Amino acid sequence: MSNYEEIEEAAASLRKALAPVPEIGVILGSGLGEFADSLADPKVLPYGQIPHWPKSQVIGHAGRLVTGSVAGRRVIALAGRSHLYEGHSMRAVTFGTRVLGRLGVKTLIVTNAAGGINLRFSSGALMVIDDHLNLMGTNPLVGPNDDRLGQRFPDMSDVYSARLRGLTDDVARETGLAIEHGVYVAVHGPSYETPAEIRAFRVLGADAVGMSTVPEAIVARHMGIDVLGISCITNMAAGVSPQPLVHDEVMETAHRVRGTFVTLLEGIIGRI
Ligand code: HPA
Repeated sequence: MSNYEEIEEAAASLRKALAPVPEIGVILGSGLGEFADSLADPKVLPYGQIPHWPKSQVIGHAGRLVTGSVAGRRVIALAGRSHLYEGHSMRAVTFGTRVLGRLGVKTLIVTNAAGGINLRFSSGALMVIDDHLNLMGTNPLVGPNDDRLGQRFPDMSDVYSARLRGLTDDVARETGLAIEHGVYVAVHGPSYETPAEIRAFRVLGADAVGMSTVPEAIVARHMGIDVLGISCITNMAAGVSPQPLVHDEVMETAHRVRGTFVTLLEGIIGRI
């Protein structure tokens, strides 16, 4: 079965289960899945119940699709994503985004846990992604282009919508939340970076590093979806502090800022 047919089958089953389908999608990063629990009138579908949906195995990724209301708007949230470092193909990593696009999602908020490269950042900060560096060594659009999904050479000069970034600043100002802005560099993982890599990424203009988001953002733009990216700086990147990096710290920090994160998302969604 072609990728397109698999996407359409998954979308068709969700259309039946979820009608009407919301126009705002949210992808929740490591430790940030709790946003899905804050939705009113939730409908939950474990990924295993959706045809062709890849399974994610990382701790902190629940693996479920949840629809519900927040700030009077209906959203469709993906709690748990697949990563390249699990051995998934780019096709699997971007399957959920493709399905959201085919369902009619017009705005996608992509969130992640990331390491802070910018020395002004501290652990627990929230960063609006202004732009990205794709250093994953591959691209989700490699292979024959399916014109039903998007064009061969999509423009990437405004991946993260200026309108949505500005709106996020407005919400932060009104709610008194401090937010950062910066460039997200995506790496393949799963090993964390070396201090030399982090120094190099800093020279290249990166402010935060992570192992996700860029594939979804590229595919979303390919489909004409407006994207907003938000990183939770769960730790300072390798070499910034003398402590070794541990996944537990990522989860702890994400858990610690969940209240702020949910407040920010609610404010943003209420204004979209
Ligand atoms: N590096 C890469 N990915 C990450 C990090 C990091 O320091 N923290 C959370 N995700």
